[in-house]
Amino acid sequence: MVGAVLLRGGQVLGEGYHREFGAPHAEVAALAACPDAEGATCVVNLEPCSHLGKTPACTDALVAAGVRRVVFAVRDPHRAAAGGADALIRAGVEVECGLLREQAAALNAPFLWAETRTERPFVALKLATSLDGFVADEWHKSQWITGPEAREHVHWLRTGFDGVAVGRATAEVDDPQLTARGATVPRKQPTRVVFGRSGLLDPKLRLVRSAGEISSVLLVDPGSRSQAEDRLTGTGVRVVAGEGLVGKLHELRAMAIRSLLVEGGPRLAAELLERDLADRIYLYQAPILLGQGLAAFATRQPVRLDAAVRWVPVERKAFGDSNLIVVDRKICLPE
Ligand SMILES: NC(=O)c1ccc[n+]([C@@H]2O[C@H](COP(=O)([O-])OP(=O)(O)OC[C@H]3O[C@@H](n4cnc5c(N)ncnc54)[C@H](OP(=O)(O)O)[C@@H]3O)[C@@H](O)[C@H]2O)c1
Repeated sequence: MVGAVLLRGGQVLGEGYHREFGAPHAEVAALAACPDAEGATCVVNLEPCSHLGKTPACTDALVAAGVRRVVFAVRDPHRAAAGGADALIRAGVEVECGLLREQAAALNAPFLWAETRTERPFVALKLATSLDGFVADEWHKSQWITGPEAREHVHWLRTGFDGVAVGRATAEVDDPQLTARGATVPRKQPTRVVFGRSGLLDPKLRLVRSAGEISSVLLVDPGSRSQAEDRLTGTGVRVVAGEGLVGKLHELRAMAIRSLLVEGGPRLAAELLERDLADRIYLYQAPILLGQGLAAFATRQPVRLDAAVRWVPVERKAFGDSNLIVVDRKICLPE
C-alpha cells in the first residue's frame, strides 16, 4: 500500500496512490494529478522503484517531471525494485529516508516480511471476542459476536492475504466459506487452509464442496496424509503434510503463500502464539458479556506480568459497535 504527495512551498500540488496490482504506482498517479511538478518535493511511504515492471520506473518519472527532492519512509527490499534512492541521487535529486519509518513498515508488514524471509508466511491472527474475552459462548456458538460493519471489514482484510486459515474444529463447527465476499473483490480468492493434524476433515463441509473452484489446502501430520487423501479424493482439496506447525507453515511458504490470516479457533491461535509464530493480531471486541465460554487463547501457559511481551499497537478503529485493535509482535523494519 503506497501513497504519494507532491508539495511545493508547503502547498499540496497533487496526490496519488497505488490503486491495484498492475496500476500506476503512487508517484506516477500523483504526477498525473499535478500539471507542473518542477522543483517539487515528493513524499512517499515506500522507496520509489527504479525498474521497469508492470509500469515504468517511478524514479525516471520523478526525474523527468523535475522533482527536486524525494522523502520516503522505508526502503524497498524487493530485489528488482530496490536501488531507487541511489538512482535518484545519481540524477541529482535530494533524497531523505526514514520519515515515520515504523508506521510505514507496519502498513506494509506482510510485504516487507515476505521480501526478506522465506521460512514461513507472515502470520496474522484474527479473532472476535466479547468484552470478557470469549470467542464463543458456553455452547460454542460464535456467529455472530461482532456486527455487520466489523464482518464487512474482515472480508476486506481477507483480500490482502494469500491464504486464510482455521483450525479443523472451527472448520467443522462453523462451516465457514473463508472467501472474500465484501465490496472489494480480490484478483484471486486467497487459498483456504485448514490445520488438522489428524486429516479427519468432513467432506460435507462447504469449503470442501467448493474446493474445485477455490484453492483449498488441508495441512496434516505426515502420518495422516494417506488417510486424509483417501477421505478427500475427488474433492479438489490439496492435502499437504508438514512436521509440526513450523513444518506446515514452511510448506505453505513453499507454495508461494507469503501471508496468512489465521481466523482461529483459540486452540490453533494459542499454539501459534506459544511457538512465537504469530506476527500480528487483529482483535475485534464487541460490547457483549458472555459470562462463560471459549476463551480467546485458553490453552496458553501462564505468563508472569513482568515477563509478558508488550505488543506494538499499529492501528485502532471502530466498526459499528465493535472496536478493532491491531498489534504487531514487533515492527519488521527493512535495512
Ligand atoms: N470468535 C472468533 O473469532 C472465533 C474464530 C474461530 C473459531 N471460533 C470458535 O472456536 C471454536 C473452535 O475452536 P477450537 O479452539 O476448539 O479449535 P480450532 O483451533 O479451530 O481447531 C483445533 C484443531 O486444529 C488443529 N490444530 C491445532 N493445532 C494444530 C497444530 N499445531 N498443527 C496442526 N493442526 C492443529 C487440530 O486438528 P485435528 O484434530 O485434526 O488434529 C485441532 O483439533 C468454535 O466454537 C468456533 O465457533 C471463534
